[in-house]
Amino acid sequence: MPEEKPWSGRFARPTDAAVKAFTASIDVDRRLFAYDIAGSIAHAHMLAHVKVLSEKERDAIIRGLESIKTDIEAGKFPWESELEDVHMNIEARLIERIGDVGKKLHTGRSRNDQVATDMRLYLRDSVDALCQRIARVQAALLAMAERETETIMPGFTHLQAAQPVTFGHHMLAWFEMLSRDHARMKDCRKRVNILPLGAAALAGTSYPIDREYAARLLGFDGVAENSLDAVSDRDFAVEFVAAAALLMTHMSRFCEEIILWASSAFGFIELGDDLCTGSSIMPQKKNPDVAELIRGKTGRLNGALVALLTVMKAQPLAYNRDNQEDKEPLFDAVDTVGASLDVFARLLEGMELDRDAMLRAAQDGFPTATDLADYLVRKGVAFRDAHELVGKLVRLGMDTGKDLSQMSLSELQGMCKEIESDVFDILTLEGSVNARSHVGGTAPAQVRQAIQRARKRLAAYDDR
Ligand code: ARG
Repeated sequence: MPEEKPWSGRFARPTDAAVKAFTASIDVDRRLFAYDIAGSIAHAHMLAHVKVLSEKERDAIIRGLESIKTDIEAGKFPWESELEDVHMNIEARLIERIGDVGKKLHTGRSRNDQVATDMRLYLRDSVDALCQRIARVQAALLAMAERETETIMPGFTHLQAAQPVTFGHHMLAWFEMLSRDHARMKDCRKRVNILPLGAAALAGTSYPIDREYAARLLGFDGVAENSLDAVSDRDFAVEFVAAAALLMTHMSRFCEEIILWASSAFGFIELGDDLCTGSSIMPQKKNPDVAELIRGKTGRLNGALVALLTVMKAQPLAYNRDNQEDKEPLFDAVDTVGASLDVFARLLEGMELDRDAMLRAAQDGFPTATDLADYLVRKGVAFRDAHELVGKLVRLGMDTGKDLSQMSLSELQGMCKEIESDVFDILTLEGSVNARSHVGGTAPAQVRQAIQRARKRLAAYDDR
């Protein structure tokens, strides 16, 4: 019987070579090694704590695991796809190194609760690292909002200039979206940080284990209540990828704006040379490829979400090998959103504004028409009538090539006798933004207060 696999005892014939290759996951799951070893060390401590292992056995196992970790980190570990996955590679090597006592590590445990534990430890770390990166992007947004509190730009609906807004206000809109992304990550972390270990294969174990003890050692907030659930569900990964896809969608939307703003048609911003790429044929080009790639990579997150939901959708309780397919989408989601956050922060930090271009664009297309309608309402005109009158003035402006603020008082009064000379205060862009002075509004005075509140919220993050 040439088979080396720990489970080969009941088999009369060795596994088919194609099946070995098909079922092996070592190339993907070896990146879990540090979590696998941490989980095994905690398990060994727990087994000794309940006297299933002697202290001597525990210490030999832990020393062996630590030396394996050192070798893996040094790139000196001989990974073998023959041994299927990260768990069996490490266990086999442990037995090789420390002898028969190594065979006791797997007491009261299964790869099913082991892999679920590894995945949760991995994801907990990933969530924490991503939260820090989200905070960095938010800090960049706040710095820009602070610098550009008074800067006026066109606000758009339907990508048509609608009403003037302040650039600071616009930055705070993205800040809010990322705040919710951060909160979703934190919320997801609560359900990630639960220990499956002790569930064993599916039904629990006959040893007198102390799950709370292992949970404390590994920094889990609690233990999974039900062993069948603990080994089978991957909803924690689905939840994370859903939150990450939404975060990526927010970045993608912002990148779409960055791409538009950096185009010569808009000319609102200039991106750092070090963050753009050129064209191999057109010497004049400076392309916003980083923003385009963030937008493009959003598809990976959406794909990962669908992949994980599909892996789960037809699985009866409890563990099924389908679950091995959770790793590639999850790892890719973590890597993609992390790298995107990093370059996104740099993109924002190196962005320069052409304030004049934004101001000129804000002046286009009768941006203060709503202000004039509101003014007429304050003078006693009903809003629907005011809307109609201002519409006619806009028509006149289009015919004569004049903005509302460039019309004479008599021209304006010709359309509506309620208009007085104070109208010119509200027809300017500054008048328009200053008028929107309430919580959530675009007036610089409000934006300044919103920035103060945002700074406090950011400072209250516990992961910075
Ligand atoms: N490599 C497997 C996975 O990722 C580990 C668990 C295998 N368990 C089993 N009973 N075949 O899910």
